[in-house]
Amino acid sequence: LQAQFQPQCLAGQRVLVTAGPTFEAIDPVRGISNHSSGKMGFAIARAAREAGAEVRLVAGPVHLPTPLGVRRTDVQSALQMQAAVQAELDWASVFVAAAAVADWRPAHSAEQKIKKDGSGQPPSLQFVENPDILAEAAASARARAGQLFCVGFAAESHDLQAQAEAKRRRKGVPLLVGNIGPATFGRDDNALLLLDAQGCKALPAGPKLHLARALVAEIAQRLGPA
Ligand code: CTP
Ligand code: CA
Repeated sequence: LQAQFQPQCLAGQRVLVTAGPTFEAIDPVRGISNHSSGKMGFAIARAAREAGAEVRLVAGPVHLPTPLGVRRTDVQSALQMQAAVQAELDWASVFVAAAAVADWRPAHSAEQKIKKDGSGQPPSLQFVENPDILAEAAASARARAGQLFCVGFAAESHDLQAQAEAKRRRKGVPLLVGNIGPATFGRDDNALLLLDAQGCKALPAGPKLHLARALVAEIAQRLGPA
């Protein structure tokens, strides 16, 4: 059954969204990051606001305007995103993790620019794993008590359905959204696969804002009364 977008289907809900990449500094002039335009997360924030929710958006480094009526916090690194999310988790009734969080950060970020030393040898960098912001939220007391509905995304290069379902279970989230097709980064169009305990269903391809509205309707259907 295709969920219809009802204008105020999230009235009374408090929706927290992460969007965009994170940037992990190696030194003051360089770092590592992920490909992510932030467009899908920003579209979800906008659609949730249009649906009557209060919306807070935690955004990595992106070049996008803040959707009308949405409170935005800008961050750079995964640790900053984690802190910004944790500060809002007691407030939120829905958490949508659309950010492409860098899985690793340099173990040490140099205070001064690392210079070539003339030997021709590259510096050896060590990495540590970043915290899993979504899994932490899904394991929180409020999520386990049914007061915080967590939605994850999965970017997979192959075998999307099986990988995404495994990810959904591993993260302990009731709803996971898979990106169909490899070439959606930065584009306005996308196609999504929804996975929950009941099974999976595809949302037809379309502009990210249309998909965001369909996703918002799907989330609303799964929530109890606000
Ligand atoms: N996520 C997160 N914090 C992280 C990594 C991922 O909150 N440190 C969230 C993403 O925002 C997304 C979901 O977890 O909603 C899945 O992200 P993904 O990168 O696909 O999964 P990983 O668990 O990082 O696994 P892998 O990249 O190895 O497939
Ligand atoms: Ca990852």
